Amino acid sequence: MTYAEIRKRGARRRRYMMLLILLIGVLIFAVVKIVLNTVHPKVLPAEAPPGDIVPVLEETTESFPVVTNPSTQKETLPPPTKRSSEGGTIHVKQPYLYLRINHSKKIPLILSNNVTADQITWTTDDANIVDVEPDGTVTGLQKGTCTVIANYEDEALEIPVTVRELVTIAGCTYVDGILVANKTYSLPPDYDPGLLPVTKEAFDLLMADAAEEGLNIYEGSGYRDYKFQETCYNSMVRGYNKSYADTWSARPGHSEHQTGYTIDCNTKNEAFGETDEGKWLAAHCYEYGFIIRYPKGKEKITGYNYESWHIRYVGKEHARIIHDQDITLEEYLDIDSAYHDGDPDAAVLGEDSESE
Ligand code: DAL
Ligand code: ZN
Repeated sequence: MTYAEIRKRGARRRRYMMLLILLIGVLIFAVVKIVLNTVHPKVLPAEAPPGDIVPVLEETTESFPVVTNPSTQKETLPPPTKRSSEGGTIHVKQPYLYLRINHSKKIPLILSNNVTADQITWTTDDANIVDVEPDGTVTGLQKGTCTVIANYEDEALEIPVTVRELVTIAGCTYVDGILVANKTYSLPPDYDPGLLPVTKEAFDLLMADAAEEGLNIYEGSGYRDYKFQETCYNSMVRGYNKSYADTWSARPGHSEHQTGYTIDCNTKNEAFGETDEGKWLAAHCYEYGFIIRYPKGKEKITGYNYESWHIRYVGKEHARIIHDQDITLEEYLDIDSAYHDGDPDAAVLGEDSESE
C-alpha cells in the first residue's frame, strides 16, 4: 500500500469517526431534552394542568412489606337518615352529624312557620355519647352513634350522630380505623406499604366491569413512596411555584398515594372528568369501595383542586355513605386539611367553591 493510499484510508476513518461522534451527540441531546421536558415542562398551559403529573420513572419491582393494620378497614354501620318531622316546621341542611371526641358543632336548623331557634329544645337518646347544649351545640364525648333530637311542640326531628375517635399509631393517624393523609395529617417517611392488595383487588374488579361496558380505565399512577412524592412535589414547585404546587400536589409525607389505598386513573388531565371513563368512575367507584377524593366544589375542605382521576379506597360501606351524602373524607371523619405553617393555601383555592 502506498503512502497516499494510507493517508486516504486514514482520512476516510476520521470522517467516519466524526460522523459517529456527531450521531452520538445528537442522540444524547435528544434524550436530555426529553427528560428535561418531562421533569420541567417549559410551556405553562393556559388551563391549570393536573398537579401531580409525575416524572416518568421506572416502576419499582421491589416488593414492600404490607403493614398489617387490623383496624384500617373496620367498617361502621351507616347512620340512619330518618327525619321524623318531614313536612313539618324543623328542617336541617344535613340530616346527619359526624363529630370527633371533644369536638363541638352546632346543628344549623331551618325553621318555618315563624318559629324561632329559642322555641326549640334539644335532647339526645344517649348522653354518654354526646352532650347537647340548649342552643343545639353538640359535643362528642365518646366513640359511638346516637340520635340528637330537635323538639318543637309535638314535632321531633331526629339527627343521627356518629362520634369518631382519632388515634395516632406509629406516626400514622387513623380516624375510626381509616388511615388519614392530607395537609394536616402526614405519614412517616418510612411508612412504605406499597399498593395494598385490597386496593389492587378492588381496582381490578372496577377495571374489568368498566371494560365490559367498553370503557378503558387503567392505573395511571398508583403507589408513591415518600421519596417519589418528594420528586413529584419538587418538580411541580420548580416548574411553577410553591403555592400553585400546593393546590395540586401533596408535600412528601402528606400524599394519599403513600397510604397504599390510592390510584390515579388514566391520565391526570382535567378533561378526564368529562370523558365516558371519568363519568363512569364518578358514578360507580363507590360500588368497589373507592371515593373521588377531591371533589369539585369542596376545594376549601380537601385543600386540593378537583381531581376527577384520584380515587381512594375506604371500603364499600364508607364509600357508599360518602357517595350518597355527597361529602368528602374530611367531612365524614370530622377532620381538617391545611398545612399549619402559615402558607396561605386557602387563598388560591375554591374561589367559587360552595364549601363552608
Ligand atoms: N394530587 C394529590 C393531592 C397528591 O399529590 O397526593
Ligand atoms: Zn393522585
